[in-house]
Amino acid sequence: MKTDKPLLEIIGVDKHFGNQHVLKNCTLSVKQGETVVLIGPSGSGKSTLLRCVNLLESIEGGSIFFRQSDITQSNVEPHRLRQDIGMVFQNYELFSHLTAAENIMLAPMTVLGINRAEAEAQALELLSKVRIPDKADSFPDELSGGQQQRVAIARALAMKPKLMLFDEPTSALDPEMIREVVDVMADLSAEGMTSIVVTHEMGFARRAANHIVFMENGEIIEHATRDEFFGGSVSQRAQRFLDQILH
Ligand SMILES: Nc1ncnc2c1ncn2[C@@H]1O[C@H](COP(=O)(O)OP(=O)(O)OP(=O)(O)O)[C@@H](O)[C@H]1O
Ligand SMILES: [Mg+2]
Repeated sequence: MKTDKPLLEIIGVDKHFGNQHVLKNCTLSVKQGETVVLIGPSGSGKSTLLRCVNLLESIEGGSIFFRQSDITQSNVEPHRLRQDIGMVFQNYELFSHLTAAENIMLAPMTVLGINRAEAEAQALELLSKVRIPDKADSFPDELSGGQQQRVAIARALAMKPKLMLFDEPTSALDPEMIREVVDVMADLSAEGMTSIVVTHEMGFARRAANHIVFMENGEIIEHATRDEFFGGSVSQRAQRFLDQILH
């Protein structure tokens, strides 16, 4: 269900790595149920911005509100926050000695304390949702890259996150596997999962994004609705970038 209050508000965030100013006064709001696609050249700060939202990086200035509370305050427990904010990276890093189902069951059992039968039932449901219902007993090295990435998505969903962060989830995949991961992310968006997706898959953006945000040199330089973006109402700079990734 969509409400008007932002689920996530990034306000004036600043960050350096050494002398390098990697996030410059970044401001971005994401409402419940929205999908935001974040694009921009390599090194522009996309991953760093997502990592700040998940408290994998600290910020120097500004604030980040999630569900109306400032998560950059020192009393916020990162592990607790990460139960509500799932993250999927380019490299899925599943546990190789656990089956697909066991990878998905692990955190609900150890962190949330739910019992094995319940965790297993949920894992099977999630494997159906990511369209690999028959792979529960397969080990990661028996799965394709696209299947492994979908297990990683299911693993994140098992914690019932309120927000999902995807950092180039398809960029390590062979072209024929990109589509299956994109389809799963588009399903999630259609079901109302709030998400920020760093991706250059413009087909996904066209299908699923409510907003498209363009970063360059640590700055958010463009924030457009999907219609504005694909209707050509974008800056020349963003358009040049788009031309590069589309050709
Ligand atoms: N841990 C770190 N220590 C020092 N510098 C870093 C660190 N992580 C990122 N950077 C630098 O911060 C800048 C932003 O990096 P970031 O990874 O956020 O970019 P990106 O937009 O995700 O790029 P890409 O498209 O290549 O993934 C880059 O110049 C990068 O070299
Ligand atoms: Mg990155």
